[in-house]
Amino acid sequence: MLFWRVKPLDQILETASRKSLKRQLGAFQLTMLGIGAIIGTGIFVLTAEAGQKAGPAMMVAFVIAALVCALAALAYAELASMLPVSGSAYTYTYGVLGEGLAWAVGWALVLEYAVAACAVSVGWSGYMNGLLISVGYPLPEYLRTGPMDGGTFNLLACLIALVVTVLLVIGTSKSAKVNAVLVLIKVAALTAFIIIAVPAAQDPNFKPFFPTGWGSPLGGIGVLGAAASIFFAYVGFDAVSTAAEETKNPNRNIPIGLIASLAVCTVFYLLVGYGAVGSIGSQPMLDANGMALHPGSPELAAACKGSEALVCSKEPLAHVLRMLGFATWGNMIGLAAALALPSVILMMIFGQTRIFFTMSRDGLLPTVLSKVHTRFHTPYVVTIITGIFVAAFAAWFPVGVLADISNSGTLFAFVMVSIAVMILRKKQPDRPRPFRTPMVWLVCPLAILGCLLLFFNLSLYTLSLFVGWAVIGMVVYALYGYRHSDLAPGRSPPHGGPTLEPAPPFHEGPDLGP
Ligand code: ALA
Repeated sequence: MLFWRVKPLDQILETASRKSLKRQLGAFQLTMLGIGAIIGTGIFVLTAEAGQKAGPAMMVAFVIAALVCALAALAYAELASMLPVSGSAYTYTYGVLGEGLAWAVGWALVLEYAVAACAVSVGWSGYMNGLLISVGYPLPEYLRTGPMDGGTFNLLACLIALVVTVLLVIGTSKSAKVNAVLVLIKVAALTAFIIIAVPAAQDPNFKPFFPTGWGSPLGGIGVLGAAASIFFAYVGFDAVSTAAEETKNPNRNIPIGLIASLAVCTVFYLLVGYGAVGSIGSQPMLDANGMALHPGSPELAAACKGSEALVCSKEPLAHVLRMLGFATWGNMIGLAAALALPSVILMMIFGQTRIFFTMSRDGLLPTVLSKVHTRFHTPYVVTIITGIFVAAFAAWFPVGVLADISNSGTLFAFVMVSIAVMILRKKQPDRPRPFRTPMVWLVCPLAILGCLLLFFNLSLYTLSLFVGWAVIGMVVYALYGYRHSDLAPGRSPPHGGPTLEPAPPFHEGPDLGP
C-alpha cells in the first residue's frame, strides 16, 4: 500500500515524447547549465558559515559534501538517462515509488529550488551591499539584512528575486544566454581568488584545525554540521536532469553533464577553501562557554559587530582579498559575484517552475499553474507565484538558515532517488539503462547513508521547519492532489496526455549554447 499509484514508466516516457519539446542542449551546454546552477552562494558566501561551524576543518566538510553529492549524482544519472523527462526526482519517484512518495519529493523540491533561490538572493545582497559600501553609497544598515541578522529588511535580496522573476516571465531565452557569460565570470573570479589567496596560506592559520570537532546529531555545528551546510554549494547539479526533455541524445549527455559539472566545481571549491582558510584564518566566534555560536543567530550577529573575522563576513571571498591588501581584486570579486549570482537565482526559480509545472500536468496541483503566456510562451503564473514567495523569504531570513532548509529538502530527494534506483534494478532489470550506476548495491546505499548523515547534522531548528513543511504538504495532498490526480479513479484522459495545449517552449529556457 506504501507504493500506491505508480505511474508506469512507459506512460511517463510516452507523455514526454508526445509533448516533444525541442531537444537542443548538448553535453557542453548541459555542463555549463550545471556549473551555472552549482557555483553560487555556497562558495561565495557560505564559506564564512562553514568556517563558523568547523574552523579550518571546513575543507574536510567540502570533501564530505562532495563525496555525498558524487554518490547521489551517480544514482541521479541512471534515472535521468532512463527517464529523460522533466520533473527531476519527482518524476523518477512517481515512476518507481508511486504517487504518495512522489508528492513528498515534489514538495521537498520546493525547498531545494525555491528556498535555494532565496538563499542565493541573500548571498547576492551581501556582495552588493559590500560593493555599495566600497563605492561610498551604502544602504542604511537596517535595509542590508533581515531581522535575524541584525537588520530589518533585506531590500536588495528582495529586489533581485523580483527582477529575476520578471526576466523569467518575459522570456528566459535572453536571460539564459547571458547566463553562459556569467558562468565564465564566476569561474574567472574563483580562479583569481585562488591565484592570490593560495600562495598566501600560512601554517598557523590551520591551527587548531578541528576547533569544534565532528559535531553531534541535530547540533548543526562541527565538521559534519559544516558539511551539511556547505552541501548547498554543490546543489544544482541535478538541475541538469530537469532539462532532460530538452536535451539532444539525453542518454549520453545527461550523465556527462551531471558528473562533469560536479567534478569541475569540486576542484574549485577545495582550492578556494584552502586559500580562504590558509590566508586569513577561519576560527569560529565563541560564546562565553567556548562553544561556537550558531550561524544566522542574533548572538552571532551581535558578536560579529565590527569584527574583521572571515566567519563574520557577508562577502567572505572579497573580504579575504581586501585583508590581504588586494582591495581592487576584492572589489572585482564582489562585482563578479554581484553579476553572476543572479544566474543561479534564475536557474533555481526556473527549476522550481518546471517541477510545479510537471506536478500540475499530472493533476496534483491546480492546472492554472501550467498556464503558458500567449505572448512570452513562459509558464508565467507559476513563475510569478514562485518569485513573490522567493522575494518575501529572501527579505527576512539569513542566508545560512535558508541554505540549511534548502539542503533538508534536497537530501530527502536524493535519498528517494537512490532508493528508486535500487528498486527499479530489482523490478525491471531488463529495462534499457544507457547509464548504469557503477557498483549500484554499494553506491546507492552509501549515497543514502551519506545523505542521512548530513540530514541529521542539520540543526534541530532546520529539521523542525522541514517537518512542518512536510505536514503542510500532506494536508495539501489529502485535500487536493489525491483527488485530482490523473491516476485517481475515474479521471481520464490524463493531463499528461495530448490534452495539454499548447506545449510550452521550455527549450527556450536553459539555452546556454553559443
Ligand atoms: N549551489 C548553489 C549555490 O551555491 C545553489 O548557490
